[in-house]
Amino acid sequence: MPDSISSSLSSNTPASSNTTAAITGSGLSSDTSALVANHISKTVSGPNGDLTILSDASVTVETAEAIAIVGPSGSGKSTLLGLLAGLDSPTGGDVELLGQSLKGLDEDARARLRAGRVGFVFQSFQLLPGLSALENVMLPLELAGLDDARGPALEMLGQVGLADRAKHHPLQLSGGEQQRVAVARAFVSTPALLFADEPTGNLDGETGAVIIDLMFSLREQQQSALVLVTHDTALAQRCDRRYKMVSGVLSPESDASHPGGTA
Ligand SMILES: Nc1ncnc2c1ncn2[C@@H]1O[C@H](COP(=O)(O)OP(=O)(O)OP(=O)(O)O)[C@@H](O)[C@H]1O
Ligand SMILES: [Mg+2]
Repeated sequence: MPDSISSSLSSNTPASSNTTAAITGSGLSSDTSALVANHISKTVSGPNGDLTILSDASVTVETAEAIAIVGPSGSGKSTLLGLLAGLDSPTGGDVELLGQSLKGLDEDARARLRAGRVGFVFQSFQLLPGLSALENVMLPLELAGLDDARGPALEMLGQVGLADRAKHHPLQLSGGEQQRVAVARAFVSTPALLFADEPTGNLDGETGAVIIDLMFSLREQQQSALVLVTHDTALAQRCDRRYKMVSGVLSPESDASHPGGTA
């Protein structure tokens, strides 16, 4: 879904009101779940008729909670993530993002709801190639209406260890560095909720581990909820709960090796 991703990052209408809440965290009351999906499904039309790629999925993610979604390639994990984030619309069911139903919201309204409150980290980094590292990190703050995005963006680049790469463009950075910029961009606005789709899928093991440690330490520091899609079962174990996806069907993982867990 590259088009919807880039539109979610680059062409959102800036939040016009309540900017302070948008750039300083969730604005969620403590009893509001970060995310609730009720019986969502997705059917697409193909050459041989309709194809259901996600059926009847229900998920709740509480404030500051981390969930993992694991499952084989092609099972529907990225499809689900796109629906949960409001990058795409379900054909059935409803998603409540940060306490607000996405039903009836058009693409711009969904983007405004996400602005400054929802972060993304993708397998393919998805930095804007024409912008420097610093400008990529400034973008979510600018979209959320902050006048001076430069200072906080520079500080965030420092937190991911790239203060000295601020002026570099994505193609002048290694894959691991690009993903660190993407992590900085995701966390610069103190998001209430972070979506990550195979964030280490294009990185070697060692570099991937650095990225994951960064993501988990920033989400801990900022108390961001996390929805993490991964093939890596060890990584999934770092989350509070796990779901598995098989052929478009999502189910909570009953995990005998974690008797203390509630999944
Ligand atoms: N817009 C679409 N039209 C038709 N089929 C689609 C569309 N989007 C996804 N699919 C199909 O839905 C299925 C699930 O795709 P999805 O990308 O969600 O899988 P995934 O679990 O993320 O796989 P991977 O681990 O390889 O990233 C695949 O068979 C894919 O071809
Ligand atoms: Mg995928």
